[in-house]
Amino acid sequence: MSDKWFEIRDLHVQLESGKEILKGLNLTINAGEIHAIMGPNGSGKSTLAYTLMGHPNYKVTQGEAFFKGQNVLEMEADTRSRLGLFLAFQYPVAIPGVTVANFLRTALNSRIKAEAAAANGGMLPSNTKGMPIPVFRKTLREAMAVLKVDDSFAGRYLNDGFSGGEKKRAEILQMAMLKPDLAVLDETDSGLDIDALRVVSEGVMTLHEKNPNMGVLVITHYQRLLNYIKPQFVHVLIDGRIVESGGPELALELENRGYDWLREPEGGILVRVW
Ligand SMILES: Nc1ncnc2c1ncn2[C@@H]1O[C@H](COP(=O)(O)OP(=O)(O)OP(=O)(O)O)[C@@H](O)[C@H]1O
Ligand SMILES: [Mg+2]
Repeated sequence: MSDKWFEIRDLHVQLESGKEILKGLNLTINAGEIHAIMGPNGSGKSTLAYTLMGHPNYKVTQGEAFFKGQNVLEMEADTRSRLGLFLAFQYPVAIPGVTVANFLRTALNSRIKAEAAAANGGMLPSNTKGMPIPVFRKTLREAMAVLKVDDSFAGRYLNDGFSGGEKKRAEILQMAMLKPDLAVLDETDSGLDIDALRVVSEGVMTLHEKNPNMGVLVITHYQRLLNYIKPQFVHVLIDGRIVESGGPELALELENRGYDWLREPEGGILVRVW
């Protein structure tokens, strides 16, 4: 058990090959806080996001991730989402033939069905209906207004020919519709232009203003994203562990000094080279 709002404790995760990627990761987030995780390529950032999502390729060998007192690592993915966890991804997939609106409606309805099933001892009642279309349209229009997205966007095919900024807009729109309590955003900045960075950042900050209790965990490489998303806490992930935590100034320091000063020498303990 954990009395923290969100707490990852001693998380160890390995790939199917048996290679261990996360090697005892600890992280606590309180409601309303914005945290950033930074770290070099291959340090395990996306592995953390996939593990929180429940991706089958990532095997938890030790540790827990408590959200509102429950270990989410033992839950099905839709139960995690029903609990208010939202995970957005580094490489959103294109789904030709499915419009943004249809995709969002499916996402919302699967949440509604999961909630109905949970209230009925795990069995989906046969009379469960999705959100009525007029209510869905209204919800979508409101979310699009908050995020200043053009109306025509909802009718486009998801990620099919989308620019980086448009992919991000669809992702943030999904977040606005699902109204999560904790959003985990895995943002590789490579390939994201200034527009896309701005979409993510402004969207996240707007949704956070609307719901100041929403926690945010943003995973990123570059300090520049954090010029827009203002985290109160910055953590550095190297080789499967959080090796340093601090305030926003830590991100600036990383920009200036890189990661080498935080790396653990072979077989030794962490020594900082000042
Ligand atoms: N499905 C997979 N199959 C094989 N190797 C994997 C898989 N997922 C992750 N890895 C390996 O695990 C390590 C950590 O990868 P991960 O994607 O978590 O890093 P990352 O910190 O997100 O890196 P980046 O900054 O490049 O996004 C890497 O060595 C990667 O090659
Ligand atoms: Mg990654």
